[in-house]
Amino acid sequence: MIKSNYLKGLVAKAKPHYKTIVLPEGEDIRVLEAAHIINREKFAKVIILGDEMEIKKHYGEKGWSLDGLTIINPEKSEKLEKYIELLYNLRKDKGMTLEQAREAALNPNYFGTLMIKSGDADGMVSGANHSTADTVRPALQIIKSVKAGRAVSSFFIMVSSEGKEYFLSDCAIVVDPNAQEMADIAVTTAETMIQFAHKPKIAMLSFSTAGSGKGPSVEKVVEATKIAKAMLESDEYKNQEIYLDGEMQADAALDEAVGKKKFPESKVAGHANALIFPNIDAGNIGYKLLQRIGGCEAYGPILQGLNAPVNDLSRGTLVEDIVGTVAITCLQSIK
Ligand SMILES: CC(C)(COP(=O)(O)OP(=O)(O)OC[C@H]1O[C@@H](n2cnc3c(N)ncnc32)[C@H](O)[C@@H]1OP(=O)(O)O)[C@@H](O)C(=O)NCCC(=O)NCCS
Repeated sequence: MIKSNYLKGLVAKAKPHYKTIVLPEGEDIRVLEAAHIINREKFAKVIILGDEMEIKKHYGEKGWSLDGLTIINPEKSEKLEKYIELLYNLRKDKGMTLEQAREAALNPNYFGTLMIKSGDADGMVSGANHSTADTVRPALQIIKSVKAGRAVSSFFIMVSSEGKEYFLSDCAIVVDPNAQEMADIAVTTAETMIQFAHKPKIAMLSFSTAGSGKGPSVEKVVEATKIAKAMLESDEYKNQEIYLDGEMQADAALDEAVGKKKFPESKVAGHANALIFPNIDAGNIGYKLLQRIGGCEAYGPILQGLNAPVNDLSRGTLVEDIVGTVAITCLQSIK
């Protein structure tokens, strides 16, 4: 059952588009239950990778319908040879041999990613049984950044107890971004927010507000803010309503009175709905504090900046998290 109202809203938005999402971890009963719910709610077409007999047996025991569901065992797939060739051609210049491509294509995360690259699926959700690196690496290698040279990153949607939404980035992928990468993360977050029908007000976070602190980490955020502002002035973005400012502390970003006092000339200070962190430590710790002490619902990490959506689950994931991540993946795959 889907309990969260926020999630129900995402599912309703995804439903008319009926995207095809591949779930590579058919050995995990949480993934099978999530697939059953998605199939029952009919908001996406689900492809499960795994042992067909085992999956059908589990569905039979639970009394779940298999109608509308596709199960593929990579080893027996008629498309395996095509995917091996595709992987080999994409990676041979990086030193991949045909034998290595054969072995890699049988790995469910590579197989699922190759399905997307071939147009056989719109997105993938994995990670219930794999590390972030193992889930994300095939996507970085095969699907690649939508903008050449721009860092792929991730975001969390945090929903406060009053129902306010905040986008937090990057909490999961780029470990220690340089100024250019932090600017990339901010601009990609702006694009994501527009895709999710939000008006971006982006705060570039630091322990310093408008020059109150000094040091290399502050200088990085100041430089990242400059680069991001220049990127947003380009033809691609200049007609979009995107506000971005920094460097600023989290209280200056979020609290109107503090924002006015510490950064009066900023249109973002006190009104931010996106928080860009200076590194993954700050981002990861920040979102978990908001979730555990702040009582926010957390959705993510959701990858952004890829040519097609691939998303990572935590290994402690719950069935409802998987359903929600699939709904977000569907929304990201709408062109
Ligand atoms: C994302 C991550 C897995 C990539 O690391 P990796 O597998 O060692 O990546 P590599 O450096 O070997 O790069 C593999 C490919 O991905 C590309 N790549 C790596 N990071 C990238 C990024 N952020 N954006 C775009 N491309 C990227 C590389 O350019 C390389 O491409 P190529 O092989 O075609 O030249 C790594 O940054 C990571 O582990 N991040 C932290 C994940 C984590 O633990 N998060 C916390 C859990 S919530």
